[in-house]
Amino acid sequence: MTNKNFPVQVEVEATISDADGAASWLSSERKRLLDILARNGAALLRGLPLSNALDFDACVVALELENFTYAESLSNAVRVNKTKRVFTANEAPPEVEIFLHHEMAQTPTYPSKLLFFCEHSSDSGGSTPLCQSDLLLKQLADRMPQLIDELENKGVKYTNVMPASADLDSGQGRSWQNTLGSDSKTSAETRLRDLNYTWEWLQDENLKVTTPVLPAIRRLDDGRKVFFNQLIAAYQGWKDSRNQDSKKIQFGDGSDISEESMDDVCEIAEKITYDHFWQKGDLLLVDNFLVMHGRRPFFGTRKVLASLSL
Ligand code: FE2
Repeated sequence: MTNKNFPVQVEVEATISDADGAASWLSSERKRLLDILARNGAALLRGLPLSNALDFDACVVALELENFTYAESLSNAVRVNKTKRVFTANEAPPEVEIFLHHEMAQTPTYPSKLLFFCEHSSDSGGSTPLCQSDLLLKQLADRMPQLIDELENKGVKYTNVMPASADLDSGQGRSWQNTLGSDSKTSAETRLRDLNYTWEWLQDENLKVTTPVLPAIRRLDDGRKVFFNQLIAAYQGWKDSRNQDSKKIQFGDGSDISEESMDDVCEIAEKITYDHFWQKGDLLLVDNFLVMHGRRPFFGTRKVLASLSL
């Protein structure tokens, strides 16, 4: 059962004729849009005359949200910046599914808002699944109270193996040099130590890292609790050539999260997930604390750009 008013479809001004007009309209609607986002978690704006990365950039700037830069983030995804504020959502091949996640919830720093823009829609597939995290947590707490208690009390740790150079076949293919902003093993280790990560150097200069204990459930300022973590994406999706067999998720005390319980979590989440099918020009705003997102596999050319804000 999903909320019928999700995402909220915001009616756009029909007389807007170009990207500058769209940007000024967004600027005048800023407060209303941010209120919708904070309340409902996602807002779709369809019908604005936007066609490329520069148009999208102008809209992002108009919303006056503080930039969260990809370069400084610990994101695992390979992305290509198109402008200072705008980048490709994920360079992973079309057949690779990106499973539900809160952006960068597997790292100590994450954006609060995500902006997506469709420059070109795929021939088929390629929708963006959106899952309301507060709704999911309620259902999980009803059906799997012990798991939720454990997650809340123990937190969670993530382990992944980063390549020595970008792996474009993977959804988690960003190199350790790029991820950590390091050009040597020594400086990478310094950064990891500062972040309280543990690490191990593997064959081919690949780097296996484990995060410190991170919360798996968060209470937001308005009192709502959310399933704010990367468990589903890590469990279902971190399966590239380097991450086949190793334990990717564990409770904060090092104990196992069972496959059975993760299978149930994934199934319950899928049942309440809404798929957004893109049309060229769509602008989608997502609150990263309230809503999880992903990417379905697709055929054809799909160009969805993203921008993150603090
Ligand atoms: Fe993402």
